[in-house]
Amino acid sequence: MGFVCSVFKMVSVLFLGVLALDCFTEFGSSAQLLPESEVRTLRTVFSKMQHPNAGTVSRALCSDSSWNFTIATVVESGIVCNCSDGNNTICHVTQILIKGHNLTGILPPELGNLTHLEVMSLLGNRLSGPIPGEIGDIPTLEGLVLEDNMLGGSLPSNLGNLGRLSRLLLSANNFTGRIPESFGNLKNLTDFRIDGSSLSGKIPDFIGNWTTLTRLDMQGTSMEGPIPSTISELKNLTNLRITDLSGRSSAFPNLNGMKDMKELVLRNCLLTGSIPSYIGEMTSLKTLDLSFNRLSGQIPQTLQGLKKIDYLFLTNNSLTGPVPGWVLGSDNNIDLSYNNFTSSSQTSCQQARVNLVSSSSSSADSNSVSWCLRKDLPCPRKPTHHSLFINCGGEHMDINGNEFEEDLSTIGPSNFFSSANKWAYSSTGVYLGNDGAHYTARASSAVPGPAFYNSARLAPQSLKYYGLCLLRGNYNVTLHFAEIMYSDKETFESLGRRLFDVSIQGKVVLEDFNIMEEAGGVGKGIFKEFNVDVNGSTLEIHLYWRGKGTTAIPDRGVYGPLISAITVTPNFKVDTGKGLSAGLIAGIVIGSCVILILLLIILRLLGYLGGKHDENSELHGLELQTGYFSLRQIKAYVQQEQGNLLELVDPSLGSEYSKEEALRLLNLALVCTNPSPTLRPSMSSVVSMIEGKAPVQAPLIKRRDSDQDARFKAFEMLSHDSQTNVSTFSHDSQAPRSTSMDGTLN
Ligand SMILES: *[C@@H]1O[C@H](CO)[C@@H](O)[C@H](O)[C@H]1NC(C)=O
Ligand SMILES: *[C@@H]1O[C@H](CO)[C@@H](O)[C@H](O)[C@H]1NC(C)=O
Ligand SMILES: *[C@@H]1O[C@H](CO)[C@@H](O)[C@H](O)[C@H]1NC(C)=O
Ligand SMILES: *[C@@H]1O[C@H](CO)[C@@H](O)[C@H](O)[C@H]1NC(C)=O
Ligand SMILES: *[C@@H]1O[C@H](CO)[C@@H](O)[C@H](O)[C@H]1NC(C)=O
Ligand SMILES: *[C@@H]1O[C@H](CO)[C@@H](O)[C@H](O)[C@H]1NC(C)=O
Ligand SMILES: *[C@@H]1O[C@H](CO)[C@@H](O)[C@H](O)[C@H]1NC(C)=O
Ligand SMILES: *[C@@H]1O[C@H](CO)[C@@H](O)[C@H](O)[C@H]1NC(C)=O
Ligand SMILES: *[C@@H]1O[C@H](CO)[C@@H](O)[C@H](O)[C@H]1NC(C)=O
Ligand SMILES: *[C@@H]1O[C@H](CO)[C@@H](O)[C@H](O)[C@H]1NC(C)=O
Ligand SMILES: *[C@@H]1O[C@H](CO)[C@@H](O)[C@H](O)[C@H]1NC(C)=O
Ligand SMILES: *[C@@H]1O[C@H](CO)[C@@H](O)[C@H](O)[C@H]1NC(C)=O
Repeated sequence: MGFVCSVFKMVSVLFLGVLALDCFTEFGSSAQLLPESEVRTLRTVFSKMQHPNAGTVSRALCSDSSWNFTIATVVESGIVCNCSDGNNTICHVTQILIKGHNLTGILPPELGNLTHLEVMSLLGNRLSGPIPGEIGDIPTLEGLVLEDNMLGGSLPSNLGNLGRLSRLLLSANNFTGRIPESFGNLKNLTDFRIDGSSLSGKIPDFIGNWTTLTRLDMQGTSMEGPIPSTISELKNLTNLRITDLSGRSSAFPNLNGMKDMKELVLRNCLLTGSIPSYIGEMTSLKTLDLSFNRLSGQIPQTLQGLKKIDYLFLTNNSLTGPVPGWVLGSDNNIDLSYNNFTSSSQTSCQQARVNLVSSSSSSADSNSVSWCLRKDLPCPRKPTHHSLFINCGGEHMDINGNEFEEDLSTIGPSNFFSSANKWAYSSTGVYLGNDGAHYTARASSAVPGPAFYNSARLAPQSLKYYGLCLLRGNYNVTLHFAEIMYSDKETFESLGRRLFDVSIQGKVVLEDFNIMEEAGGVGKGIFKEFNVDVNGSTLEIHLYWRGKGTTAIPDRGVYGPLISAITVTPNFKVDTGKGLSAGLIAGIVIGSCVILILLLIILRLLGYLGGKHDENSELHGLELQTGYFSLRQIKAYVQQEQGNLLELVDPSLGSEYSKEEALRLLNLALVCTNPSPTLRPSMSSVVSMIEGKAPVQAPLIKRRDSDQDARFKAFEMLSHDSQTNVSTFSHDSQAPRSTSMDGTLN
């Protein structure tokens, strides 16, 4: 019996062993399968999304590695399962990632059957239609990312059932209606984004329920302010971005207690009153953007304590008082343009990296303030220009006899550039999610039509072009655009949508303008023509982003205004003002120079231009030399129409003088001899030019074909020279750091 028992035991053990082995083989890792019903659901879901591989979904999906790949940061596919159900035999899909796939279908209601789903990201597709309420039936859902699609309709109130939902990212779609009341139940939310949608209504009070929130993005919606006071409950916020609110104005919301704030953007939110001083206690702050509000009062001293700050944008408010010294001395990107500061006359247009354009209040002594700090950039002399051609973001070029000015500065963020009192631009903001993004663009393949379509200037926020010193009158303003940042080549690159607005002279002329849509595709030029009155002397073309469209395709930071070229032509007859006699010219030349010499002597006596006893002064020679060239050589210049200006310097000086000083004085002397009395500088500006406080400005005279007169040719040549020299040498407003840094002017 014992033996039989032993044999039986052995056989039993073996049998059990084999059984166990069998089980392991059959239900082991290679046999972890999805339930048949889940396969059916997934096939339906993927085929309604128009996924080309919907048909390949099988029970073995969880081990089918062809669904796992990454082509670029926004072209990605991934399926993740949890196979611990049913003693490690049954799998369920827990994550679906299909990013940048050009899926053109809809979000089907069958998604609600995926009751184990935890994360779904469909970023960067072309899915349209509404979000099905059935998604609210997925109790396990923690992350839902639907950014950069074409979804629309209202947000289903069922989503309020998703108690575990932590990330709800819906930016860059076209949702309408209000945020449902039920969203107040989403108490596990850490990240909520609805940028660039048409959602309307008041920002709801219940956002105060989202106490676990760390990031809240509401840029460019159609929602109304004010920001509810309940926001003060969101103490864990590190990134808060609310922009472009309509409705009534309000004071700054209470953000006291949000000690870990890193990015605070409340742009164009109709905020009034002063900037709270507790902002200075947010010591982790890297970006503070309170631009385009109605904030008044002074910049709080406490902001000085923000040691980590990279970007400080207070553009377009009503801030007053002096610009604090710590701001002027800062190395960071600071934009204080368009405010009401009291600027001292020492403040130049570009100090450190602080943009102060158009920032000073029009006080009585405003004449002593640099022109670029004053509102509307008034012409510092008599306006003379009557046409303007700019190749935005591109080089100088001649098209049909029109000389397009080069516009090559690559500096960003927040930059002011001006070119010889003829035109200027001011760009504000920094690209969201990519501070290395570019501020000019070049087409990867040639755009048909005029060559200027192959380059463009871009800005993250606001881009203003100014036509300066224009004659009063009516003009045709033509704006040229071509979408050159997106391409048709790659699936995901064709998904981007760029929308921005354009105002001319403060009047909105293009709203939600979409270049690609208007031109009928990528890499196609389109122009818009406008009839504009210039009543002062400044033409202002303002392009600005109101948070609409995509921001992450083909890369993070591709959005905002883009422009290829600007042409401005007069709708009136231009008086070319020719016909000065040779005698008159000679009189002007001699007269001007006599005055200049007298002035130099006076200045010398007063101790400017180096001390009396300073025999080795580099200016010593200049004094002699001015007397020398005044009559004979200037006449020779006439202005034989040739010669390098420096040839006018007394050769006996050798190289013992400052070329910069010499050129400044020579330029000045020549400017004083302008045939048009109105174009000669006033005595007070001559003084500041000699002192180097103001740049020497030679007017550009555009020769008409009929003006063959030699003196005009000479002047034109001179003005070109002096423009170059002045930009390179001056330390004041006319020396845009851009030109001296990017080397375009040597
Ligand atoms: C989804 O589930 C419902 C019932 O819960 C069922 O009737 C329906 O057939 C399922 N759909 C799919 C595609 O599996
Ligand atoms: C895809 O990759 C994830 C890890 O990133 C892995 O867990 C999963 O099993 C893979 N899925 C397939 C189908 O290979
Ligand atoms: C898988 O699901 C089981 C229960 O369904 C759960 O206990 C487990 O934590 C899950 N595993 C993972 C990695 O999520
Ligand atoms: C898991 O295994 C236990 C015992 O081994 C068994 O009782 C149970 O029914 C199994 N569950 C499933 C879903 O197969
Ligand atoms: C938040 O999520 C956790 C698990 O992630 C869950 O236990 C909790 O119930 C959720 N809160 C709500 C309000 O559903
Ligand atoms: C957004 O939705 C509205 C209303 O449904 C529609 O009129 C508009 O054309 C849509 N815009 C886009 C860009 O799809
Ligand atoms: C959410 O907030 C609203 C208004 O602040 C409040 O009335 C409501 O009770 C809150 N909801 C929950 C579920 O706590
Ligand atoms: C806020 O953050 C802290 C630290 O991460 C955490 O301990 C706390 O639970 C958070 N509070 C809420 C309401 O989520
Ligand atoms: C200032 O912002 C307002 C909107 O708040 C806008 O209408 C105006 O054009 C802006 N001004 C400048 C100079 O940007
Ligand atoms: C700021 O300047 C503008 C224009 O000069 C003026 O209309 C406005 O009243 C000023 N605001 C304050 C607060 O000084
Ligand atoms: C200005 O625009 C108008 C209307 O588009 C056009 O009729 C006119 O010819 C244009 N004038 C010039 C000088 O280009
Ligand atoms: C992406 O989808 C659009 C719309 O269906 C289609 O026109 C385009 O050819 C697709 N692009 C690629 C590369 O598949």
